Formats: sequence, C-alpha cells, structure tokens
Amino acid sequence: MKILVTGGAGFIGSHTLVELNAAGHDTVVVDNLSNSNRKSLERVAELTGKEIPFYEVDIRDRKGLNRVMEAHHFDACIHFAGLKAVGESVEKPWEYYENNIGGTLTLLDVMRHHGCKNIIFSSSATVYGDPAIIPITEECPKGHCTNPYGQTKSMLEEIMMDMQKADKEWNIVLLRYFNPIGAHPSGRIGENPNGIPNNLMPYITQVAIGKRKELGVFGNDYPTPDGTGVRDYIHVCDLAAAHVCALKAIIRQSGIGIYNIGTGHGYSVLDMVKAFIRVNGVDVPYSIKPRRAGDIATCYCNPAKAKAELGWEAIYGLEEMVRDSWNWQKNNPNGY
Ligand code: NAD
Ligand code: WQD
Repeated sequence: MKILVTGGAGFIGSHTLVELNAAGHDTVVVDNLSNSNRKSLERVAELTGKEIPFYEVDIRDRKGLNRVMEAHHFDACIHFAGLKAVGESVEKPWEYYENNIGGTLTLLDVMRHHGCKNIIFSSSATVYGDPAIIPITEECPKGHCTNPYGQTKSMLEEIMMDMQKADKEWNIVLLRYFNPIGAHPSGRIGENPNGIPNNLMPYITQVAIGKRKELGVFGNDYPTPDGTGVRDYIHVCDLAAAHVCALKAIIRQSGIGIYNIGTGHGYSVLDMVKAFIRVNGVDVPYSIKPRRAGDIATCYCNPAKAKAELGWEAIYGLEEMVRDSWNWQKNNPNGY
C-alpha cells in the first residue's frame, strides 16, 4: 500500500516508517519539522535501504497538502503530526488546539476530497483521564483530561467518530498509545527531545550520560506497591508494528476501531530506574520530589482487543526497552 505518514520525522513516526517499509509498503512523509530533524529520515533511509519521499509541509497548509495528494495516490494515512508536550499545552492552549485540531481538520478535508478515507490516528491513554478500571479496556469510559493536549486527542477522536457516522466510507483506527520508550535496536533512530525532557525515560538516559545531575521521582506516596507512579511502558518498535497490523485491518473492515496499544504490564518509576541500572550497568542518581500536578497513580491496559482483532501484541520486554533507550542515548549523546 502507499501510505501518507504525517509527522513521520518524529519519534514514533520514524520507527513506524522502518516497520512499514520492511512490510513492503511505500511511504511518503509530511512533516513541518517543528519538533524533529530531517536527519531522522536520512537514518530511516539508511535502515530501510530506500529513499523516503519527504515534503516539508504543515498539515494546516491546505495548498501544501493538496500538492502532496495530487502527486501521489494514497491508500491510507497514518497521522502522527501534532504537538505533544502536556505542560506546554497548559501554557499555550490556543497553539495546541489550532495545531492539533485545526491541522487534523484540514488533513481530513483534503483526504476526503482526494478520495482517501482510511486513517490511523495517534491517540493516547491520556483520554482515559484517571481511569475508572485497571487494567484499562477500550470499554473504560473516557475521563476528564486535565490539560489541553489530552483534550485535543479526546476531541479529535469524537470528530472522527462523527465523520465516520455521517460517511460510512471512512475507515478509522484510533490507537490509544500507552507510554512509548526504547529505540530501534540499531541505535540509529530514537527519541530526540528539545530542552529538558518531560518524560521519564529520556530524563533517565540524560542523567545516565551526565547531562543532568539527578532524576526527580515525582512522588512516592501513591497507592502503588512502592509508592511511585505505575505506567504501561511499550517499546517503540512494538508500537510501530501495531500500525502495520492496523493497516491490514483497515482494508478488511470498515467503520471505527479503537485499540489500546500497550503491553498490559505496569511498572513503577523505581522499577524503571532499577531495571535501567541493572541492565545497562550505569548509575542513575535520583531523589524523591513532590508529586507532579496532573499525574495519576496507575495506568496500564488490557491489550487483548488489539491481539484478537489486529493480530498484534507487544514482544519486547522491560530489559529490551531500557537497553535500547540507553543504546540510542549513548550512541547519540546530542541527539541527531
Ligand atoms: P514527535 O514530536 O516526535 O512527532 C510529531 C511530529 O509531528 C514531529 O516530527 C513534528 O515536527 C510534527 N508536527 C507537529 N505539528 C505539525 C504540523 N502542524 N504539520 C506537520 N507536522 C507537524 O512526537 P511522537 O512522540 O512521535 O508522537 C507522535 C504522535 O503520537 C503525536 O500525535 C502524539 O501526540 C502521539 N502520542 C505520543 C505519545 C508519546 O508519549 N510519545 C503518547 C501517546 C500519543
Ligand atoms: C511517567 C511516570 C511520572 C518524569 C505522558 C503524557 C501522556 C502520553 C505519555 C502523549 C509518572 C514519573 C516522570 C520525571 C518522574 N503522551 N516521572 N520524573 O505522564 O505517564 O504520560 O506521556 O500522549 O499523555 O501525559 O509519562 O514519562 O511523563 O511519566 O518521576 O522526571 O514517571 O510522575 O509517574 P506520563 P511520563
């Protein structure tokens, strides 16, 4: 199939390009490089042995998107492009709504005008808010998102569901990612955060390499086995593979499919730190800090629906996740 990959230069997009090309798909990338670097695409070309056509286009730019869709006939779009920093979204709500919602509305409109109505959307576990059920199934009601970033994901899910209700030609897969970490085992592509990392794993790797003094563990008084927050960390290559499985499903079925993409295992912050130290043989100094506003105690999923309907399940475990995160950081101390 020929796939339009928006946000393909980013962390998850670049890993998904590798999986898509390995599965024999053709890919075209649209990215405005607002949170990425074209070097990631050079590395993807190196890993796949294929040049990946790239358009430096913003998804809010209707003319630019039309140009891309006139030049290629796409079977489906995998839509990663968006802003994703939770804290920044609280500071800049308008920018988040305009980029994520405005951009996606333009993309969907251009797609339908070109007769391409198959889309896989990067949603997030954040739509569950403080989850009512653990492990989280897709039946779990969506919760209150405490930040504009999460709201954009939840609202975009609703928008796409309404569009599909009105026009049955749309085939839509909403993938609710849990906490992606790790990197391609080659160490050639990985997560490349700007400035101080918000997320746990890039913070750990930057402490391990000496860029930051110590990790702050946000709270050890949660109702969890060791008091620190529990999450469902998933290797980014497993997450990438889920998109390949979702593509197979999108042409078999029509309608809306919603899937949790996680491993089903919950690990605490201290589990992650200890595994990282043990597997990689490096030190990660840490100290306990107050809770971070908006954090929840526990979040992990039941991924059975993705296994049953998409034929996908995670194969990488905790050791590979912490090993590959470190391998990427150590080989690319300053990112791309
Ligand atoms: P990323 O920032 O590395 O990748 C997103 C890409 O989109 C970047 O390359 C950025 O330059 C591009 N982009 C942003 N706005 C754009 C626009 N208007 N036009 C064109 N390109 C634009 O992030 P990621 O971690 O790879 O996340 C990919 C998607 O998955 C995002 O939608 C994110 O919200 C979602 N998601 C991520 C996580 C996570 O923890 N990383 C979890 C759940 C969901
Ligand atoms: C994980 C755990 C922190 C940093 C966020 C978004 C979510 C999704 C994934 C996009 C928590 C603790 C963290 C640190 C710490 N993204 N922590 N010290 O908050 O589960 O999810 O990223 O959709 O929407 O909210 O991920 O990696 O920030 O935190 O102790 O320096 O690590 O408190 O328990 P989170 P995270």
